[in-house]
Amino acid sequence: MRREEKSNIYESAIKEIKAVLLGENYAITKMATINCILKQNLPSYYWVGFYLVHEGGLIVGPYQGTLGCIHIPFQKGVCGRAARLQTTQIVANVHEDIEHVACDSRSNSEIVVPVFNGNRELIAVFDVDSTEFSSFDDIDKLYLEQIMSDQFIDENLQINL
Ligand code: SME
Repeated sequence: MRREEKSNIYESAIKEIKAVLLGENYAITKMATINCILKQNLPSYYWVGFYLVHEGGLIVGPYQGTLGCIHIPFQKGVCGRAARLQTTQIVANVHEDIEHVACDSRSNSEIVVPVFNGNRELIAVFDVDSTEFSSFDDIDKLYLEQIMSDQFIDENLQINL
């Protein structure tokens, strides 16, 4: 997909996310809705979801796609690395990344974005997998980081339902 086309898709998805989630406070509701809107709009999204920070590791949260791993320790996976380093990870070929955890062997590339609350505490990571190699780049990083900071820094955010 052309860079401009991908940017346009993210721009319109962000408008939809903002409109649909206006006034919503529940983190899980926001996560489920973000997954749906992005997966409906971006053809490269094969698996999309959130892993939540829970009891010293990550536990699967809202997602769309094939069965995800339930627990990912901070020491494992591209998700664990994004949580430890608290920076976005882009992997062009997951089979060449020794930390990658394969939940579905059809995934070939991925991006993982850390999610912070208003106190700059890590609450989750957002993970997208593609069956194509090299699906994700600086455009995905830019817009996904924007969505995560827009949606989860609200001081009224409620993580527990
Ligand atoms: N790709 C992740 C594991 C989670 S699944 O892809 C759903 C990782 O290596 O962290």
